[in-house]
Amino acid sequence: MKFLGQVLILIIFVATLSESKIYTSCEFAQTLIDYGLVSSSDPELRFKLGNWVCLAYHESLLNTAATNNNTNGSRDYGIFQINNYYWCDSGFGYNECSMPCSDLLTDDIRDATNCAKLIYRVQGFFAWYGWIYNCRAQTETAIENWVKSCHF
Ligand SMILES: *[C@@H]1O[C@H](CO)[C@@H](O)[C@H](O)[C@H]1NC(C)=O
Ligand SMILES: *[C@@H]1O[C@H](CO)[C@@H](O)[C@H](O)[C@H]1NC(C)=O
Repeated sequence: MKFLGQVLILIIFVATLSESKIYTSCEFAQTLIDYGLVSSSDPELRFKLGNWVCLAYHESLLNTAATNNNTNGSRDYGIFQINNYYWCDSGFGYNECSMPCSDLLTDDIRDATNCAKLIYRVQGFFAWYGWIYNCRAQTETAIENWVKSCHF
């Protein structure tokens, strides 16, 4: 019994690990290019990606499994900290991104990136307090420094 219990704990631990990934800045930025959030031919590529990395760093520390409960009872999900009231389905509110909120927590951030793309189209970076408070006032050079060491 004791051994079985330990195996079970190990399995749960491994299962938890596989659904949690912390991206490096460059890996995250490259993934945003791969999934079409920013075009690699965009003349402002480094500025745009720098803003996204700054945003996601302040929202989730680039952790795909991050969740946070807001004081108004809503909940933010994943690397972009997307709100469940408007954007994803968790049993109440709207579901503008047409996906369950759990899709925003997977290691593969394709769904989360697609949802962020829609939010950005509607509200721009102003949809994210993490960006407003921490990134908005940064100089262009400071923003581009978020992806300084990356090779695109
Ligand atoms: C956050 O809210 C969810 C329900 O939406 C609840 O299950 C969870 O325990 C809460 N987490 C914390 C840390 O309060
Ligand atoms: C609840 O709070 C979060 C975080 O402050 C905010 O993003 C969201 O818009 C609020 N939801 C509603 C329905 O007011």
